[in-house]
Amino acid sequence: MKVGVIMGGVSSEYEVSLNTGREMLKHLDRSKYEVVPVVITEREQLIGQVKGLDFALLALHGTYGEDGTVQGTLETLGIPYSGSGVLSSSLCMDKHLSKTILRSKGIPTPDWLCWDRTEDVVPEAVERLGYPVMVKPNSGGSSIGMTKVNSSQELRSAVEKAFAADQSVLVESYTEGQEITCPILGGTLLPVIGIHARGAEWFDYSSKYEQGGADERVIQLPAEILERVQTAALACYRALKCSVYARVDMLLKNGIPYVLEVNTLPGMTETSLLPKSALAAGFTFSSLLDEIIAGSLK
Ligand code: DAL
Ligand code: MG
Repeated sequence: MKVGVIMGGVSSEYEVSLNTGREMLKHLDRSKYEVVPVVITEREQLIGQVKGLDFALLALHGTYGEDGTVQGTLETLGIPYSGSGVLSSSLCMDKHLSKTILRSKGIPTPDWLCWDRTEDVVPEAVERLGYPVMVKPNSGGSSIGMTKVNSSQELRSAVEKAFAADQSVLVESYTEGQEITCPILGGTLLPVIGIHARGAEWFDYSSKYEQGGADERVIQLPAEILERVQTAALACYRALKCSVYARVDMLLKNGIPYVLEVNTLPGMTETSLLPKSALAAGFTFSSLLDEIIAGSLK
């Protein structure tokens, strides 16, 4: 089977994607697959390079990769690909829409406001939300363009930074709590990972990707809290119509898991969380890729 590892792309997470792709290339079992690296640097390159593949293993993150657009192209071309489908990918990429769906299902998520570029951000509304807030590009990833804002004086520059990365900005109530993540593989929960950023106030880009940037390990939670975390993670996965695999990022405060977002193409770099969790569940990186490929072909 000819498997193309699709990596790079045209999003702000280009570098992260190359690292995910490299890890995948390193660990794909060559006795099972004919492996073809497909590095995308321009949008129009995609179609020419995926022709003839039996399977597209997506190492892309963010816009034109994780947001349903590439998935739609591959569907149109009839090439099977890894992970969630078009609708789920688009929904999960849009934090405002996914949070709206989660809230409608009674799944806790921090309070938020969202504005489009054409609208004026209303400082009084942010005031009512209460500082500090996290200002994020609505469809961003890897914490790029994201700022913790402690007071109204800092709001404008943070909003400008987020708008530089996206058409919409999300202003989310800051939740002081333990950062955790709950990966899911084939509808089955993998061990929960707890995250402590080192030398940073929150889990920013460098804590995520620098070696030693964060302490990330499988954590044991009291049974009742674990049950809540896992129930919320699975509820997100189902509500947002995810398939094959995903990673649900949360903040745990007073025993309540507040869902921040669901990643349909979670990072698979050397420092990434899902492979660590999968390893604790007995999956080597290679067998994790086998599971993803087999699950996507079902
Ligand atoms: N957006 C990055 C790749 C992640 O969620 O892991
Ligand atoms: Mg993300």
